[in-house]
Amino acid sequence: MTQLSLWANKNDVGAPVFLAQLTLVLPYGRLWPADRFRGTLRFMSGNSAGGATGSGHDDVYTHGHRESVLRSHAARTAANSAAYLIPHLHHGLRVLDVGSGPGTITADFACLVAPGEVLGLDRSPEVVAVATALARERHLNNLSFDSGDIYSLDFPDNSCDVVHAHQVLQHLSNPVAALKEMHRVAKPGGVVALREADFHGMSWYPEQPELDEWMDLYQLVARHNQGEPDAGRRLLHWAQAAGLTDVTPSSSNWLYATAEGCRWLSEDWADRAEKSALAEQAVAYGLADTAGLARIAAGWRAWGAAEDGWFVMPNAEIIARA
Ligand SMILES: C[S@@+](CC[C@H](N)C(=O)[O-])C[C@H]1O[C@@H](n2cnc3c(N)ncnc32)[C@H](O)[C@@H]1O
Repeated sequence: MTQLSLWANKNDVGAPVFLAQLTLVLPYGRLWPADRFRGTLRFMSGNSAGGATGSGHDDVYTHGHRESVLRSHAARTAANSAAYLIPHLHHGLRVLDVGSGPGTITADFACLVAPGEVLGLDRSPEVVAVATALARERHLNNLSFDSGDIYSLDFPDNSCDVVHAHQVLQHLSNPVAALKEMHRVAKPGGVVALREADFHGMSWYPEQPELDEWMDLYQLVARHNQGEPDAGRRLLHWAQAAGLTDVTPSSSNWLYATAEGCRWLSEDWADRAEKSALAEQAVAYGLADTAGLARIAAGWRAWGAAEDGWFVMPNAEIIARA
């Protein structure tokens, strides 16, 4: 089957870019490697610096909050996901964590800055409830979670010492508008801290054709949702476009290179390939079928059985002084 998809996306500063993509879906559901065989036509519309400000209300979050995803995100800690920020945290600071998800990183911040107040905000009330239960479980009285939108933070100007977002901007149609809003609520001299993965920067061994299919499919679904899966390499550009001037960039990897680590990662993505919002969206958008998703899941499990597996996920980081 040949399929022509048309959709509107936003470029780095929020101006509309109209995309037409030719996708070949073979009868058994194999997605033609779209990034290496891309029939994409781009028609730029209007002035790219036109300053469109996406409200983001129609942004679709690619991963969703099914159990397979929450399990994975809940394995994150300040040590394994925000080490670049830890030297800037001390007792008494007021921290806002935007797009806090299940809240495990946020909870670690609460320990590091106690008795300073830490608030986690997320657009999804469902995941806010999960994070609130975690705060109760850990008896963290200086930690709370609430629903909120990164594009429109319900905080006065200059009210937080640290404003943090981890793996959030990549899911937004207008990351620059979101960053301006984070900057607005940070106190002068305070910190805006960001960390984003770069999907095309990921590499692995041994080679496994279904992991290439997974990458192609993830890119297509995330871009269909107006996100930017290769956010890492753009993070500095976004920060500068948002007017952040005192910026320190760094990078760090998540590395899976033990038999146990590779098994964990492979089980996680095998599950997510079939049982997550990503899987549902891939089917709904006509980018994959259930047989194709099952093949990707089996490929992940086959890869995870290797004794010498290696998977690197690079992340860009930024500490910006407000
Ligand atoms: C990949 S998760 C990261 C969660 C957490 N920061 C972590 O690293 O464990 C992205 C989170 O951003 C949230 N999110 C997406 N769009 C948002 C928006 N416009 N405002 C606030 N949160 C948003 C999603 O609901 C999701 O929980």
